[in-house]
Amino acid sequence: MLSAAHSLAPEWLTVPADANDLAPGVWPASAARDADGVLALGGVDAATIARTYGTPVLVLDEDEARSRARAFRAAFDDAAARHGTTAQVYYAGKAFLSTTVARWVIDEGLRVDVCTGGELAVALAAGVAPGAIGFHGNNKSVAELERAVEVGVGSVIVDSAIEIERLAAITARSGAVQRVLVRVVSGVHAETHDFLATAHEDQKFGFPLDEAEAAVARIREIPGLDFAGLHCHIGSQIFGVAGFRESAERVLELHATLLEHGPVPQLNLGGGFGIAYTRADHPTPIDTLASGIVSAVAEGCAARGIPVPALSFEPGRAIIGTAGVTLYEVGTTKEVTVDAGATRRYISVDGGMSDNARPALYGAQYSARLASRAGDGEPRLSRVVGKHCESGDIVVDHEYLPADLAPGDLLAVPVTGAYCVSLASNYNHVPRPPVVAVRGGRSRIIVRGETVDDLLARDAGIDGATAPEGDK
Ligand code: LLP
Repeated sequence: MLSAAHSLAPEWLTVPADANDLAPGVWPASAARDADGVLALGGVDAATIARTYGTPVLVLDEDEARSRARAFRAAFDDAAARHGTTAQVYYAGKAFLSTTVARWVIDEGLRVDVCTGGELAVALAAGVAPGAIGFHGNNKSVAELERAVEVGVGSVIVDSAIEIERLAAITARSGAVQRVLVRVVSGVHAETHDFLATAHEDQKFGFPLDEAEAAVARIREIPGLDFAGLHCHIGSQIFGVAGFRESAERVLELHATLLEHGPVPQLNLGGGFGIAYTRADHPTPIDTLASGIVSAVAEGCAARGIPVPALSFEPGRAIIGTAGVTLYEVGTTKEVTVDAGATRRYISVDGGMSDNARPALYGAQYSARLASRAGDGEPRLSRVVGKHCESGDIVVDHEYLPADLAPGDLLAVPVTGAYCVSLASNYNHVPRPPVVAVRGGRSRIIVRGETVDDLLARDAGIDGATAPEGDK
């Protein structure tokens, strides 16, 4: 029989029958406990990973990332083929980018979406063909655009009238012809956290639909620019197909108008596909998403008597999020009496908002499990917190964890593959964690962790540290 919920627990959190279980859909498919109860990821046990690389450490399950990349590609390929068109899937590198991960997704037939010169540099260093790169950003610098045109990125997704003129000047100077898409704001407010919605009117990205026609007309006048189509990204961590359908419908209206004056071969509907962070989340299966979205586009095209364009999508989180698990070591625990005598156990770990800012930024919910062993005792309501000097430094807001969890135990927090290391900071001079890939019983470092020496090396006031350029 399940025990009664704790008075401080949110409604969505149920008391688990076993506080050592691994919720399906939240952990990588390879996650399992061995005979001793130790958590293994990609066939490598958590204690070995912690001993070898230290904690905190982000563990990426290579098979999980690859199989999600494959599933996205297959789902959109099939859906597109059913409607007589094609679909390209770009991995949104902002979720997590390193040369190794870029190679995984390229290997699985994806392309790569970057949004800064830094991300572009990583993709190029990984050997991604420039033609397989889409370049985003609402404030690309002239230097970034010059570099993108020089290497020949497959498409630049233009975000403003100023950027169009910058590209006109750059291509005029170099003689290159750059393929571009125009990012539009469909006005659909995705049902997600406000900071993650990007296609409502009052925000910084793209052109409003009623201004985009003039932008496209201007692009078509510029000899160095090749207009390829429209782009719209409605936001991130979105469940269901309704928002995508609505957005596609609005963008297609403009797409059809643009066809009256020239070719519009492509349509890019962005990323934003939601994943399960806790067992309370029920994301839409990839096949359902793909067929729902592609059918909506096909129906919209049929209604307007226009051909179905080549489609592109840009998932980031849905490829890499569930592949990541962060391992922490428990440092201290304390029982805090909150009100009416109800107590909450605080578990402090050796990382926090410097390696996962999402709870502090978006109120994101996570889950956790004891990793170095299976715990004993009743599930106890716990809050996992970091080591930073802020009370908002929460890693897992609400979770039931075994009563005997103690200092020295390893704790695993799943679904940290996306937007954790990529948003990491050195707050409180905490070095950023290493990233380790696991597969088939082996582990390897793919991004080394920082050391305090790395941090001190940037402090120009320390003898021996690299001084920038002396006095000015
Ligand atoms: N395409 C564009 C143009 C985007 O701006 C984004 C995300 C994506 C694709 C990929 O979205 P995804 O499939 O990963 O949801 N830091 C936030 C998420 C910010 C998303 C920014 N843009 C978070 O931690 O939830």
